[in-house]
Amino acid sequence: MSIKILTEENKIILKTKNTMYVMEMLHGRFPVHLYYGKNTKNTDFNFDNNYRSFSPYYEEYGKSFSPDTAPLEFSFFGYGDFRSSALKIFNSSSGSDITDFIFRKAKKFRGRKEISGLPYAEGASETLELIFDDAVTKSELHLYYTLFNDCDVISRYFTLKNKGKNDIRIEKCMSLSLDIQNKECDLISFQSKYFYERHVCREPLYQGNRRITSRRGSSSHHANPFFVIADRKATEEKGEAYGFNFVYSGSYLNEIEVDQNGTVRAMVGLGDECFNYLLCADEEFTSPEAIMTYSAKGIGEISRNMHSFVRSHILPADVFAKRPVVLNSWEAFHFDIDEETMVNFAKSAVECGMDMVVMDDGWFGSRRNDKAGLGDWTPSHELFKNGLRAFVDRVRSTGVKFGIWIEPEMVNPDSDLYRAHPDWVLCADGREKLLSRNQLVLDMANPEVIEYLKASFDKCFEGVNIDYFKWDMNRNMSHPESPYLPAERKRESSYRYMLGVYEFFRWLRERFPNAMIENCSGGGGRYDLGMMKYSTQIWTSDNTNPQDRIKIQYGSSFGYPASVMSCHVANRNSEISDPKLLEFGFRVALNGPLGYELNIINADASVKNTMKDQIKEYRKYEDLIMNGEFYRLKSPFEDGCYAYYFVKKDNSEILLSYLQSESDKKERVHRLKISRAIRGVIYRDNLSGLEISGNELRKGITIKADKDGKYAKMFHFTLYGSGLKY
Ligand code: DGJ
Repeated sequence: MSIKILTEENKIILKTKNTMYVMEMLHGRFPVHLYYGKNTKNTDFNFDNNYRSFSPYYEEYGKSFSPDTAPLEFSFFGYGDFRSSALKIFNSSSGSDITDFIFRKAKKFRGRKEISGLPYAEGASETLELIFDDAVTKSELHLYYTLFNDCDVISRYFTLKNKGKNDIRIEKCMSLSLDIQNKECDLISFQSKYFYERHVCREPLYQGNRRITSRRGSSSHHANPFFVIADRKATEEKGEAYGFNFVYSGSYLNEIEVDQNGTVRAMVGLGDECFNYLLCADEEFTSPEAIMTYSAKGIGEISRNMHSFVRSHILPADVFAKRPVVLNSWEAFHFDIDEETMVNFAKSAVECGMDMVVMDDGWFGSRRNDKAGLGDWTPSHELFKNGLRAFVDRVRSTGVKFGIWIEPEMVNPDSDLYRAHPDWVLCADGREKLLSRNQLVLDMANPEVIEYLKASFDKCFEGVNIDYFKWDMNRNMSHPESPYLPAERKRESSYRYMLGVYEFFRWLRERFPNAMIENCSGGGGRYDLGMMKYSTQIWTSDNTNPQDRIKIQYGSSFGYPASVMSCHVANRNSEISDPKLLEFGFRVALNGPLGYELNIINADASVKNTMKDQIKEYRKYEDLIMNGEFYRLKSPFEDGCYAYYFVKKDNSEILLSYLQSESDKKERVHRLKISRAIRGVIYRDNLSGLEISGNELRKGITIKADKDGKYAKMFHFTLYGSGLKY
């Protein structure tokens, strides 16, 4: 890992473990991008100077440089780059929105710049800072490139300083911009809708502009911020690919544009539709952090790069030595909970060997359904006669930990909070407020709202032994304007809303340091790196049908490690009488931290014993699932099945899973090749007793698809003896 600033050559070279990134300050002023690829000794990089008629150039330098055709590190609106720009600034004194930032200086420093109020990656090793000046607005732009010792990831963000006397407005804000030259590429994005999150969409990129965006005030179920640009022929194991993500949870824009020369510009940021920011004289603004990674070995490597980065630099440290196996009340009872039911629920959890009971929605204020009470964070006296603390102590005395559901950002109009503060919700002057799930969105940009939340949660949970919060968020934002903000800052509402959310997250973690947070937004509506900074795991989807989950889990695995993906075994009928019905759901759930959502209070001993055995089995693989290296083998979008494996770093242990997402009338035979198996040793599958050589595993295990579907097969290979040679 290194940063080299070669002053004489005007070049800068960044190196991560396996990748290299090169730029040149052409003519000492233009930040031209030269290379992002695998580490090489070659330092003789040039950019394709495909000058085109109609492209503007500076007389002084002739056609050797045009902002329109050069691959650039960053681009500005209106100065001759006709491609989409990373930064657009409006100069209110002159009425102009053109800028031309000129490079002044490069420096490097240990660690990184902190981004006040926002989540960002920890444990950075070194940062490159490039400083640019715009002569007319007198603003200063600082571009940051942060490196991490152990990961092939480069993070990007910028600070804009208004050094002039007049106000300026940031009208478009992209944290990262990368120009990839001369490539026929595909875009792989993770889109869909509520209940079907992160479905994989692969499409060829042609000349033109493609925006993957969320205007919902959240990163959304509909379009996850993670995306990949890959060679058109790239597979899991082969070809070049680039992965991108954003450490942010609100509305965002990923913009991908292919220009006349075939250069692909990939940008990640707050965008131009849901973000607009007033920067007064002497003020500065730092963008959220965006990250990028490169692989010369296919898309699988992009995922593994992202997994290790998220685990090492984004996720909070685990609160417990092992993730608790939870029993959640939602699918078991919905709002129909009370003290006795929850205590009996806890007893049944103990019988099954589970670690924690989570009391979901319906425990506070007048919240007996989704029409009332949201916002009133007072435990219901009707449900808990002796108070929350006594109730929680009763639950814990059965031998389980205790988790609780909260939804701090929302309010039902039928609530004491809304009656007292109707002005504390997002809304636009003179416009009707729209409901979604009978609720409105609190104005998290208003510090009074944050103070109210802190005070009421403080009081509600004072002295109560909480091990786990499930932080939910169940609607998107219409009329995303903060009544608290003055007119000139109104368009900062969505961004400032997120600052409020993150502030409350930080407070909750500090106030309850022994509790872990599971994030949820109607399932995986905020499955993003911003949330992952504060939440150990995320509820993957409200859809608990295992066959649907297979696709959701497959898509989620591209950008995010298994350790964040909450996987619960459920049954929509809430109760279960036949233990056989648990098997498929359990195999599907063995892809992340395990939990259950079933009413098992009156379940047969056979059901309870099956769960107990399942949890014992899960414990055997847990470390591999949480920390192992991950390989996808089959895609449920193409093969009708999902096959993948986790492998220990030294290749001595492999957990191979085959999950059929649909029936297969043709009963296709799938070959699952374990490329990480060690040659010349024998492995043993602890589930079937099968002994098999590493060479054979590399050639592949064959599995015949089941014609009726809902079929799963698992292998847990460990080295036979201590790795017997044959
Ligand atoms: C949506 C969540 O995704 C569910 O798991 C549950 O917590 C409900 N909200 C409760 O209202």
